[in-house]
Parts: sequence; C-alpha cells; structure tokens
Amino acid sequence: MKKMTIRALLDEYRKYLHHDITVNGWVRAFRSNRFIALNDGSTINNLQIVVDFENFDESLIKNISTASSLKITGEVVESQGSGQTIEIIAKKIEILGDNDTEELQHTILQPKKHSLEKLREQAHLRFRTNLFGAVFRVRNAVSFAIHSFFNERDFFYVNTPVITGADAEGAGEMFGVTNFDLNSLPKTEDDKVDFAEDFFGRKTNLTVSGQLEAEAAAMGLGRVYTFGPTFRAENSNTTRHLAEFWMVEPEVAFNNLEDNIDLAEDFLKYVIQYVLDHCKDDLAFLDKRFEEEQKTKPQKDRATQGLIEKLETVVKQRFKRVSYTEAIDILRDSKENKKGKFQYLIDEWGADLQSEHERYLVEKHFESPVVLFDYPAKIKAFYMRLNEDGKTVAAMDVLFPGIGEIIGGSQREERLSVLKNKMAEMGVDGEELWWYLDTRRFGSVPHAGFGLGLERLVLFVTGMTNIRDVIPFPRTPGNAEF
Ligand code: 4AD
Ligand code: MG
Repeated sequence: MKKMTIRALLDEYRKYLHHDITVNGWVRAFRSNRFIALNDGSTINNLQIVVDFENFDESLIKNISTASSLKITGEVVESQGSGQTIEIIAKKIEILGDNDTEELQHTILQPKKHSLEKLREQAHLRFRTNLFGAVFRVRNAVSFAIHSFFNERDFFYVNTPVITGADAEGAGEMFGVTNFDLNSLPKTEDDKVDFAEDFFGRKTNLTVSGQLEAEAAAMGLGRVYTFGPTFRAENSNTTRHLAEFWMVEPEVAFNNLEDNIDLAEDFLKYVIQYVLDHCKDDLAFLDKRFEEEQKTKPQKDRATQGLIEKLETVVKQRFKRVSYTEAIDILRDSKENKKGKFQYLIDEWGADLQSEHERYLVEKHFESPVVLFDYPAKIKAFYMRLNEDGKTVAAMDVLFPGIGEIIGGSQREERLSVLKNKMAEMGVDGEELWWYLDTRRFGSVPHAGFGLGLERLVLFVTGMTNIRDVIPFPRTPGNAEF
C-alpha cells in the first residue's frame, strides 16, 4: 500500500473515501481509549484515528500514549464528529516506538504548556510541538520562495566557501578555523603562531559573508545569489543575533543603488506573499499564538495589527525610502531624543544608528518598512561605493517593524583607485584581497547587492520574538548544545 503524508490525505481526501490507506505518525492525544490524534509533521492538522478497542489486543491499546509512534492501516470515512472532515477506522495498528513513560514526564512531550525557554533546552524534541512544526514548515517555505524568486529572474545560485581567508566585512568578528594541536603550536622566529604550518598553509576562518566571492561570480555570470550559513563571533546576546545564521546574498552586475533597493523590496514582498499563499494553516495557528502573546503585554507594547494582517499590509505598502541625513534630522527632532528617552542620544550627523532608532523610524514615525540609504562612509564597510559628496556611501538598510535591520546592502565601489584608497584608510589588507581587486582591474562594472538574514525574515513572518526560536539548533555565546 502506498505511503502517504497526512497533508496529502487531508488535501485530497475525496480520492481516498472508503478506501484502505496506511499512515504513520506520532500520537498527539489518545482520548477515551478510542480516538487517536495522529500527526506526522507534514501539516499542523492531526488525523483522527478511530479505534474499536474490542477489535484489538488490550495490551496493544494500553501501550499507546502521547508521543508514541504508530503505523496505522484503515478505512477513510467521513467524520461523524465536528472538527475534522475525515477519520480513519483502524484495522491494523502497529506500535513503531513506545515511550519510556517515566522519562517522558521530564520532557516537553508531556502534553501541557511549556515555556519557550524550556522548549529551547529540548530543541531536539521541539519539532514535535504544534508551534515548532509550524515555525519550521514556514521556514522551509521561505527558503523555497527565495530560490524560486531568483530562479524566475535569471539569477544563478552560487555556493561560496564556508572556510575562507578573507574578512568580507572588515569587522574582524570571525571564528578561526585551525587544525593545530592547541597545546603545541608551531611558532615563527618572532614567537607568533606560524599559520604557514596549518592545514591550509595560512590563517583561515568561518565566513562572515559570501559577498566578496559572490561579486567575483557576478562579474562573469551577471546575476547571482548565495544562500548559506554565515558566522559572527560578536558577543551580542540579543533576540536578533545568532553566532551562526543563514544569509541570502544576491549580487547583480550593472545594478545601481536604486535597482538594488527595488530588488530588495520586490524580493521581500514576493517571499511574504508566497508564505501567505502557501502556509495558510500554519499561519492561522501562528496568528492565534501571536494574538494570545499580545494579551500578556502591557497595552502600550501591544501590536496594533494581527500577524496575518501585518503581512498583508507589508506586501501592499510601498516601503518608505529615506536618506540617512533625513533620518538623522527626524531622530534629532523627535520627542524621544529631546526627552532623553533614547539610550543613545542623537546629536550629530555621523552617528551610527542603534536598533532603538531604527525601530522608532519604522514603528513610530513612518509606520511602514523603511529603506535608509546614503550612510556616512565612516560607519560602513570598505566595499561600498563612495558618493559624489565624498562623505557618504551608496549603502542601504531595509528596516522592518518589530525587527529593525532585516537587509543590509550597497552599490559596490567599482573604481580600482578609489577602492584601494578606501582599503588603505580602513586598514583592509589589499595583498590578501588581490583577487577581489582583480575584479576591478579587468572589465570592472557598476554592481550592487545585499544580504538578508534568513532568521530575521522568519521571525517577521512567524511573529516569533526570539531568533533562537526560528532556527532548529541555535548557536549563541555560551550555547552550542546538540
Ligand atoms: O548587514 P550585514 O552585516 O551585511 C553583510 O554581511 C553584507 N556582506 C551583505 C551584502 O551586501 N551582501 O548582514 C546582512 C544581514 C543583516 O541585515 C541581518 O539581517 C543579518 O544579515 N545578520 C544577522 N542575523 C542574525 N544574527 C546575526 N548576528 C546577524 N548579523 C547580520
Ligand atoms: Mg548591516
């Protein structure tokens, strides 16, 4: 008999009415020794199995409990009860795995409400919950939509290295990669660690971004994107930062800053619309959770819109495009700034924006996603294109409600001499990046790209609040369990 998922069965149940089928899954609940709610992870919806206990061994029935896994064959019938369209009249039940009931008491599989912190401690089991099933199915849909967006627009998916010698952001927040025995490090004559002796014959690290390699690829393939894990050794213990996160980085030859902003806006809207169209059941569940969570907050901190409503608004809204200079004026004149409510007060042009400022602009001032552009050169990375004013660069950040920065990008400096000067000024080693400079030596062209933090987008579309809850096994300072 053909194996099928519960999602496929529920979607096309008419095809199977009064036929025998086989399903596998985990017991979510077993009521009155008669009704099993079975879930196989394919959908948030459980399948109801009706068990006539006279037809089965008593010992078998006794061994079925929440969390045990079953293989069931039975007839598909229209359901008598409310709450489901069909149910399965069990003819054969096989227990694939029963429970250590004593140990089960200490796990999150115990059917009651558990805190998100507790669920995080048992991240290996949280896939079994309604909430995390929904979150990870939505995460999957987001990833799929990302590939489909770029594929429809003639972009090529390129894989950039995870282990690299380059510091793409020039920010030095990298995890080193070494094969040395740390207890006996080879030294050079001046008593430094001799990386020439290491596996790669040089110092290497985990990538912070695939951008520089993606730029090289775009200088031949035209439109490319990377989508892979990136690593940052920044000690930020916030609800928005991970030490290991997934980044999507398109890079496009012949694009300028405005093209880049258009692409980012289209891209975000496409992915969000895809989730609205394809994740209805999961979103309905997340929407309800979101609403319930709002009720636990003080009135002033509550969201003004429901989750689905918020997503629908964002795809319809035109994102506000505001220069850094305008933003500084708005922030400087804001009540928050004048009354000293910001932790970091804004007094002059050139200040780096903190997330409190980004969120003020998005949530209070514009009440819309905001794209900030033309930032001071001093607070941005070396590769961003210098504007004619000589003090700003063609950078862009997309800021989202409840999230802050979701995308960061720029038009790139394609002029070799300007780039070299900038690198020297910012202390970025031109010898190490000889290959990057080569892309400006032979047929250099204007180009632009950006990076989207996948988890920040998943946070936004699921309405979750902690980034640790939208990646299966989060890595943060002090945490690398599993
Ligand atoms: O702004 P960032 O640092 O930009 C870059 O790395 C560029 N090389 C991208 C490019 O132009 N190709 O990072 C891009 C995005 C941020 O906007 C944010 O969404 C996410 O990556 N991000 C993080 N997400 C989770 N945890 C962290 N520690 C993150 N750091 C950045
Ligand atoms: Mg950034």
